[in-house]
Amino acid sequence: MLFNVSQRPLRQTTSYGSPLAFSRQLYERASRVMPGGNTRHSIALAPYPIYARSGSGCRVTDVEGDERIDFLNNYTSLILGHAHPQVTAAVQQRVALGSAFTMPTPEDVELAELLVERIPYVDQVRFCNSGSEAVMLAVKAARAFTGRHKIAKFEGAYHGIYDYVAVSESPREDEWGESDAPVSSTEPGTPPSVAADVIVLPWNRMDACRKLIARHKDDLAAVLVDPMPLGIGMIAPQPGFLEFLRDETARHGILLVADEVLNFRLSYHGAAHRFGIEPDLASFGKIIGGGFPVGAVGGSRKVMSVFDHTAQLRVHHGGTFNANPVTATAGLETMKQMSPEAFDRLNRLGDYTRERLTRMFHDRKMPAQVCGAGSMFLAHLTGDELVDFRSLRGFSRNNPIYGGLCHQMLQKGMIISPRGIFGCLSTPMTEAEVDAFIEALNSSLA
Ligand SMILES: Cc1ncc(COP(=O)(O)O)c(C=O)c1O
Repeated sequence: MLFNVSQRPLRQTTSYGSPLAFSRQLYERASRVMPGGNTRHSIALAPYPIYARSGSGCRVTDVEGDERIDFLNNYTSLILGHAHPQVTAAVQQRVALGSAFTMPTPEDVELAELLVERIPYVDQVRFCNSGSEAVMLAVKAARAFTGRHKIAKFEGAYHGIYDYVAVSESPREDEWGESDAPVSSTEPGTPPSVAADVIVLPWNRMDACRKLIARHKDDLAAVLVDPMPLGIGMIAPQPGFLEFLRDETARHGILLVADEVLNFRLSYHGAAHRFGIEPDLASFGKIIGGGFPVGAVGGSRKVMSVFDHTAQLRVHHGGTFNANPVTATAGLETMKQMSPEAFDRLNRLGDYTRERLTRMFHDRKMPAQVCGAGSMFLAHLTGDELVDFRSLRGFSRNNPIYGGLCHQMLQKGMIISPRGIFGCLSTPMTEAEVDAFIEALNSSLA
């Protein structure tokens, strides 16, 4: 039986939480055919998720007909919000001409040119279909280029589902080990050899990082860094930390790989540029696909030559849907809309949001800290000093307080993460949506 949401009349008497909710029925069906009832853990919500029917601008309508303001934007990927008219029109036109070929198309050349023009340290790019693939390709390129096999990453940082970068992504406290030499922990399904080839670094701890990098320098192909890692609570790098990583890697012939999958939305020139560093390679995703599946790896011509089949090919790179013209069209139209002025406006609205959040917690006399930058925010309900993954002890992604808060916010017409007070903005938003969000959060916290 097909659940034809487009034929459902809106404004039913059902709503989320009611015994007759369509979302509940869909979740029961989903649970029979998909483990846990989903195919993506980050959208899980107890007792069942809200199923979306449509989105327009910064608003999403669910299958019950209830509308909410979307502060998650498919986990930051929809910088223009939903169904932007120009992106939609361009995609419709492109789909009618065919969606995938065993040939390149002009659209992929144009998107590559746009990225190369905008990102100072990128001479060449290659496309794939997800941020995870982009990170994997960057790691493989670094290994092939340097002839070394280990990588280093930061404890708690999320970089997608490639085995090596998933090491110590979310380690339990009893697995941490020494604070200046974190244990490499893996999940079941990952061979122990993976842990042996990944050095785990503590965020913002310069001395410990220096020692760990020096100890493994002869084997290290890359240090992988997200300049403002969501998995580490968007705790900003301390002054000089990223520059230190740049210098330290260069000194030992290790490549610095920036994961810009999420944080490319920080500026017209990307995250690394905003933080003042020039990595050797980077992974991209999310906003550059304009709402469609995408990933890209980019870097200097010299390093990217490992993918060049006309030279000495060292990293094989396939992918049936790589650079398909539908994604490329959506990405191109989206990125064209995101002029320097559009980024500035959105980032100013982000400043406004973080200021209002800070003031709200202050007025409530609640210990809290608002992290994030650009168009993103993440509030921690703690007065403790936040430095690295371990200092987030009080902020657990599985802390039930956030699930409860998310439910309250959903009832008040706001979409935020069920795993923290995390959200992001889209260009259709104004101060009015932010004010409504703050008001809803304030009364939910009460
Ligand atoms: C920093 C970072 N890297 C990589 C990924 C993986 O991207 P994808 O979900 O497109 O595979 C994500 C996804 O959220 C991310 O935030």
